[in-house]
Amino acid sequence: MKVLAAVTLALGLILINFSTCYGDLQVGFYKGKCRNEVDVEAIVRGAVTARFNRDHSAVAALLRLCFHDCFVNGCDASILIDGPNSEKKASPNKSVRGYDIIDEAKAAVERECPGVVSCADIISLATRDAVALSVGWRWKYDVETGRRDGLVPGIVDLPSSRITVSESIQVFADKGLTVTDMVMLLGGGHSVGFTHCPFIMDRLYNFNNTNMPDPNMSPFLLSTLRSRCPPTGARDNQEVNLDQNTFSAFVVDQSYYQQAMMRRAILRVDQELAFHPATRDLVASTARGSGFPTQFGAAMNNLGRVGVLTGNQGQVRNRCNVVNPITSNSTPAVANKASTSATTTAATNNTSTNAPTATTNNASTSAPSTAAANNANTSPMLGDINPMA
Ligand code: HEM
Repeated sequence: MKVLAAVTLALGLILINFSTCYGDLQVGFYKGKCRNEVDVEAIVRGAVTARFNRDHSAVAALLRLCFHDCFVNGCDASILIDGPNSEKKASPNKSVRGYDIIDEAKAAVERECPGVVSCADIISLATRDAVALSVGWRWKYDVETGRRDGLVPGIVDLPSSRITVSESIQVFADKGLTVTDMVMLLGGGHSVGFTHCPFIMDRLYNFNNTNMPDPNMSPFLLSTLRSRCPPTGARDNQEVNLDQNTFSAFVVDQSYYQQAMMRRAILRVDQELAFHPATRDLVASTARGSGFPTQFGAAMNNLGRVGVLTGNQGQVRNRCNVVNPITSNSTPAVANKASTSATTTAATNNTSTNAPTATTNNASTSAPSTAAANNANTSPMLGDINPMA
């Protein structure tokens, strides 16, 4: 018994260690790095709290922004850079919001601790704080920090709204994320926020070109959504809650899984997760159990490690929307992620009609074709139907 206890304790310590330090990232990276012991995380928390108190949908804004940043060029805040070829302007990011929350947090941090805290870390911290605010601080996960900011925008290469579970598993695996990470990130992410009618019209009226609705949608949900998104005259900017449990539409919780079990998930991939052999057991157990907060926090940290720049790579931007002039202090290459093609990537970025997809950006060269579209690609992507344009 004592041996078992000792082994359990040792394993526990290892796990804690793993969860607090990954490569050059670590929880509390900024401790002692600012004058007067300024608490950087408290400053970010203050800015996010002020926004959240005015607008609870800030949590959805930040979660999506964080995901769209990390899946393009890694978690390097490249999504925040302004410019004609910026990621912001790319079609899949047209309805991404929350940039101003990061700008506000960054400005507050810069006032107390100039030139030290990366925008990439502010995205991670702010997202964590918004999640914690959404659950009234009943739980929060620790966030690793120590990222640096990227120097160029990336090619926006995001999963299509019509992606299948199998394809999605591959896309997440290409980023080093497991099936569990994927289920937790999709479930937590889509437990808040909105989608727009164009993203679900096929499920309502013409699923897989059958002229019939998705048979996996509950009849009650179908009728509710059809009245919100009529076959003709539906407004592209009509919003539909991703979590149909109105009591928790702004709370990051396991209600997504419960809804999916009742065939009340909104997006196609969300519903399919409840039936796919690789994911259904996890969806069912998460719907029933109490493990979601821990697993979601772990998945967010795994997401936060995708393609990060650390050490002397990249730079710490002064303002999140503008890259600092390159000095000897910043490494011009996009370091370990975009390989040698940083310049090419910038040049072939979002406006190119024939930009290579998986070869010049961070997406693995084996990314499935469904996900391998750039900003001008014609595959159905998150932004193909562009409700906010
Ligand atoms: C296969 C992967 C994913 C697909 C296909 C997908 C697809 C979508 C689509 C189509 C929308 C609606 C966009 C609109 O109507 O403007 C959406 C919204 C959203 N997604 Fe995802 N998503 C994926 C993964 C994720 C992940 C991993 C997260 C976060 C960790 C996330 C967080 C969100 C949030 C919070 C919203 C609502 C945004 C808002 O209210 O402004 N998504 N997603």
